Amino acid sequence: MAASVGVALLGTGFMGKAHSNAFRQVSRFFPGKLEPRMRVICGTNEAKARAAAEQYGWEEADNEWRRVIGRKDIDIVDICTPNHLHAEQVVAAAAAGKHIICEKPLAASLAEARMAADAVDRAGVKHMLMFNYRRVPAVARARQMIEFGRLGRIYHYRGVYLQDGLVDPLRPLSWRMQKQFAGSGALGDIGSHAVDLALWLNGEIESVSGMLTTFIKERPSGGATAEVTVDDDAHFLARFRNGSTGVFSASRFCTGRRNANTFDIYGSGGSLRFDLERLNELEWYDRTEPAVDRGFRTIPILERDHPYVAAWWPVGHALGWEHTFTNAIHDFLACLEQDRMPEPNFHDGVKVQAILDAVQASSQSGTWQAV
Ligand SMILES: NC(=O)c1ccc[n+]([C@@H]2O[C@H](COP(=O)([O-])OP(=O)(O)OC[C@H]3O[C@@H](n4cnc5c(N)ncnc54)[C@H](O)[C@@H]3O)[C@@H](O)[C@H]2O)c1
Repeated sequence: MAASVGVALLGTGFMGKAHSNAFRQVSRFFPGKLEPRMRVICGTNEAKARAAAEQYGWEEADNEWRRVIGRKDIDIVDICTPNHLHAEQVVAAAAAGKHIICEKPLAASLAEARMAADAVDRAGVKHMLMFNYRRVPAVARARQMIEFGRLGRIYHYRGVYLQDGLVDPLRPLSWRMQKQFAGSGALGDIGSHAVDLALWLNGEIESVSGMLTTFIKERPSGGATAEVTVDDDAHFLARFRNGSTGVFSASRFCTGRRNANTFDIYGSGGSLRFDLERLNELEWYDRTEPAVDRGFRTIPILERDHPYVAAWWPVGHALGWEHTFTNAIHDFLACLEQDRMPEPNFHDGVKVQAILDAVQASSQSGTWQAV
C-alpha cells in the first residue's frame, strides 16, 4: 500500500486550481509508493479558501500561510502565490523541514531567489520549480533527440512566448503589472518559461542584450488609475556557452496569440520546432536524409515510448496542458521516493533569475550584459 504524504497548497488562484488537479490525479495515473493527501489549501480570504477547498478537493482551508507551514501533518508545501511571496514562504517552509514545490519564477529578484536556494540547501529538503513545460511529452522528446545527437551541433535557438491578454488598455492593474509584486512583466511571467526551456535544451547562456517596453503606462485601479511598473513586451539576444546564438521574445501584446509558447532549434544534423498551441506535435527536419526527400515533417508525440504518454491513455489519444502539472508532480513524488533531487529545482530557478536580471540591466544600460 502507498504511504501517504501530507500536502499544503498556498494560493487559490489560477495555479492553485491547476496544481490541485494534478495532486488529485497523480496517483490515479502514476500509482507509486507515495500518495499525496490533500490536507489544506490556503488563501488570503477565508470564504474563498473554503470554497476552493470544497471545489478542488482539499480536506481543510486556512487563510494564514505560516500556520499551515508549521503543521506536523504536512510533508510538502506547494507555493502558488504571487512572486514577491515565494522567497519568504520558501524560507519558512524549509526551516520547518518541508519539501517544497514553487511556481515560477522562483522570486521577484535575483537576491530573493538566492535566499530561497540557500534556505533549501541549509535545510536539506527536496525542491522543484514548476517550469511545467519541460513536462510536455513533445518537449521532453525534443530533449531526448538533442541528447541522442540527432541535431548535431546547435547553431541557433529561438524561444518565443507570446500572449495577447493585456492588449485592452482598460484591463485593470493586477499584481502581475507591479514590479514590487511581480519583479518584471512579460519577461518574468512568460519569458522565464522560454529561458528555462532554452537552458534545459541548449545549455547555459553567457550574455544578453535586451529591450523592454511598457506600452500602456497607466491602468484602471480601484476607481482611479495607477502606474504599470513592469514591461509589457520583452526581447533579447543571447550568446550560449556552446557557441550558438539565441533570440528570445516574451510579450502580452501580440494580438491573436493566445498562448503561443514556441521554440525553434537549428542544428547541423537537423532542426526541431515546437508550439504549445499544437502541443502533441513536434516538427522535425532531418538533414541526414537525401536532399530530395528532406522537409519538415510533423511527428505526433502520442506513442507509448514517448515521455509520459504510456501513463495516460491508449496510443494516439491527445493530451493537454493540464497533464504537464500531473507529470511534474509525479516526477517530484518519484524523487522523494528515490531520494533524488528533482529538476528543475531552485538552483535552476536562480540561473533563470540571473538571466532575467541581466536582460533588465541590459535594457536599461543599452549595452550587452554578462550573466
Ligand atoms: N507554470 C505556469 O504555467 C504558471 C501560469 C500562471 C502563473 N504561474 C505562477 O503561479 C504563481 C501564482 O499565479 P496565479 O496565476 O495563480 O495568480 P492568481 O492571482 O490567480 O492567484 C494568486 C493567489 O495567491 C494567493 N495569495 C496572495 N497573497 C497571499 C498571501 N499573503 N498568503 C497566502 N496566499 C496568498 C491568493 O489565494 C491568490 O488567489 C505566480 O508565481 C505565477 O508566476 C505559473
